[in-house]
Amino acid sequence: MAIPHPREIQVAVVNWLDERYPFTKAVDEALYQRVPNFANAFYYCFGGMVFILIVFQLLTGILLALYYVPDASGNPAPAYTSVNFIQNSVYLGWLIRGVHFWGANLLIIMVLLHMARVYWTGAYRAPRELNWIVGVTMLFLILALALTGYLLPWDTKAYFATEVTIKITAGVPIAPVATLIKELLQGGPVVGPPTLQRFFTLHVFVLPALIVLFMYVHFRFIRAHGIAEGLTTSSTPSWSDWPSSPSSWATQGTTWRTTCRMRTRTRSSPTISGPTRSSRSSCSSRSACCLPMCRRIFSSSRPPTPARSPSRDLTGTSCSCSSS
Ligand code: HEM
Repeated sequence: MAIPHPREIQVAVVNWLDERYPFTKAVDEALYQRVPNFANAFYYCFGGMVFILIVFQLLTGILLALYYVPDASGNPAPAYTSVNFIQNSVYLGWLIRGVHFWGANLLIIMVLLHMARVYWTGAYRAPRELNWIVGVTMLFLILALALTGYLLPWDTKAYFATEVTIKITAGVPIAPVATLIKELLQGGPVVGPPTLQRFFTLHVFVLPALIVLFMYVHFRFIRAHGIAEGLTTSSTPSWSDWPSSPSSWATQGTTWRTTCRMRTRTRSSPTISGPTRSSRSSCSSRSACCLPMCRRIFSSSRPPTPARSPSRDLTGTSCSCSSS
């Protein structure tokens, strides 16, 4: 029997998978989306940097967890000695711990920069308010990760710093609520082994799972809305500045924009990207006449028409070829 070429094996595997779930379509949709030109500015990279740093934190955290012992009983406590062991004896342990520590600091700086960018470009406004709220939730999750992680080395600094932060957190003016928060976090009347147990669980299981979940929601929202154009950009964007996702067309303005977009868009040729993708791959039929019309309308200096405004006349005339 002839040995199959690796490409044939690859095709067979992909076909087998695609028959069970449209993986190729899903991957194409995820990967081949146009990035608008204005998003090439350096300050649009902060969100991506935050994502990369979180991946680093997850990876280095898993490596640290291989040696860390979350036990604060006894003197010296295994938690303390295990961190010493990682720092001084484990092969490259100092590096992994250092990356995790500095990554955490850098992460907070990057999140703040990312928030500043979103604020500066007005990207928190409709329809992205919910994504801003998701972002604020992630900010709190990241701060909670920093707080819970700080206790884990179980040295003097970690112990007393956590005592202070718990006191601050429990500073709620309603006494029973304050006591409840304190008891819940400490797991007893003072910071002790149960506190470490709880902080470890939060730091290693609960918070990372939540942040991954929220990041997924954050990215789905970004894909649905497209990247917001900055407030300072010209009101007459060029063809290459067209938002990349159809839903952002719908939210940005009129029916005709959505309609044109849908008709000129094609996913059939993922290797061809850029504004000419539609014309190159499928203009032979429908979009050939829609495309220049959409382009002309979009780059006119007309201010965006409010959503749902009557625009049938434009749709009807400019894209009448769609029925052909
Ligand atoms: C775990 C933390 C976060 C990650 C991984 C993350 C990632 C991203 C990425 C990759 C983008 C695409 C555009 C860009 O990179 O600037 C983005 C957009 C956005 N982010 Fe975040 N982000 C995080 C936290 C936040 C926070 C704390 C806020 C605000 C409180 C926020 C609000 C937004 C908004 C509103 C957008 C849409 C901006 C637009 O459409 O131009 N994000 N985020």
